[in-house]
Amino acid sequence: MSFLQLRHYLNHHITASSKAGHGIHSPFVYELATRVLPDKKEDIFDAAERIRTNMLASSQSIQITDLGAGSRKTSTTHRQVREIAKTSLQPAWRCRFLYRLAMHQSPGSLLELGTSLGVTTAYLAATNRPVFSMEGCPNIHKLAMQNLKETGAENAHLLCGHFDDLLPNFLREHPDCNFAFIDGNHRYDATLQYYELLKRHMAPNALMVFDDIYWSEGMKKAWKKIVSQQNQITIDLFYFGLVYLRPEQAPEHFKIKL
Ligand SMILES: C[S@@+](CC[C@H](N)C(=O)[O-])C[C@H]1O[C@@H](n2cnc3c(N)ncnc32)[C@H](O)[C@@H]1O
Repeated sequence: MSFLQLRHYLNHHITASSKAGHGIHSPFVYELATRVLPDKKEDIFDAAERIRTNMLASSQSIQITDLGAGSRKTSTTHRQVREIAKTSLQPAWRCRFLYRLAMHQSPGSLLELGTSLGVTTAYLAATNRPVFSMEGCPNIHKLAMQNLKETGAENAHLLCGHFDDLLPNFLREHPDCNFAFIDGNHRYDATLQYYELLKRHMAPNALMVFDDIYWSEGMKKAWKKIVSQQNQITIDLFYFGLVYLRPEQAPEHFKIKL
């Protein structure tokens, strides 16, 4: 965690509500805090965690096409697969949380921006709903294809390309999409652009999950701008920013400890 993130983490810890729900007056957010936030381990995640284990043990090195804000840890274009697995993937407890969030949404297709090696995709696929995940680096996409094939998850569909090129068509073709996890290209302009596009096209009551809202000044600024918009409930969990679209409702904002 960088110094900036640590400062925000401490501030969040002091000011956020607990997941016991004390002080949360919205029935929807109270239910979310008390039923969805608490962690739960399940056997259905074993296949996804096998991908992580295999990738951490890999001795392969691949050429990277970096279309996003990149990694703070390295700027080379060749990377060890095990190093990607160590630094770029969501930890297991956050993957389980994403699964619970997706399950809490009414049935619909799920979208992920940023497949990487396919770990979060495999967790989302455990919902048994159609999952579409986008990755811009062809070599990483290839590895994710192999990994997902090994899990046998036929509901996971991996798309290779830049988010900017794939997203508009995807949203036109999948009006039932009511969950989007944005875990790539952590830049101010790009994050707001994806937010606007998703808000315009996603199903009513859809959920957007933004990763790493305190990763940089740009992400912090983007999250602040997102929170200031209308017709939504926003929840700051420090690690993730949640946006529940509520077309008929005045905006509400919450801070909860995950
Ligand atoms: C943090 S990783 C995703 C991790 C993954 N969700 C997990 O935890 O299992 C982000 C991925 O997004 C991809 N990416 C970043 N910007 C992109 C863009 N503009 N278009 C397509 N892919 C992009 C990167 O190549 C990288 O593999």
